[in-house]
Amino acid sequence: MERTFIIIKPDGVRRGLIGAILQKYENKGLKIIAAKLMDVSKELAQKHYYEHTSKPFFNELIEYICSGPVLAVVLEGNKAVTIVRLLNGATKVEDALPGTIRGDLATSTTENLVHGSDSVDSAKREIALWFPEL
Ligand code: RTP
Ligand code: MG
Repeated sequence: MERTFIIIKPDGVRRGLIGAILQKYENKGLKIIAAKLMDVSKELAQKHYYEHTSKPFFNELIEYICSGPVLAVVLEGNKAVTIVRLLNGATKVEDALPGTIRGDLATSTTENLVHGSDSVDSAKREIALWFPEL
């Protein structure tokens, strides 16, 4: 069993898509281990996305993640990290295939509804950052 970390980003919460998005993960057999609806501080957003600090889209990304409440979730299941990345779909809006969360529902590369850890090591780091109580 593997754990991964996902965020339903502010556009997903604002658009009322929490149920539709969680259903995708649950339908695939992933179990919700922990979830919390929360406002994100600039500090937490910057720590979470530290690898993008020098990218041109960094400030826009931090503003976006802090623009409203998000749902932070820990999921568990067989190959959870890879499966969530597949279900989320490609980062660029024009590459996200139909059938994926982003492909079916997202309209921009920045506002792309969901985050998913990109490796088991990232998942461990992110779960510790967002759910220190776990
Ligand atoms: P995430 O970390 O949120 O799961 O997304 P990802 O791995 O698919 O993509 P990543 O390269 O890690 O980018 C993080 C988030 O930054 C925004 N982004 N904007 N305007 C742009 O060119 C651009 N590129 C990335 C997206 O919100 C992306 O999910
Ligand atoms: Mg990423």
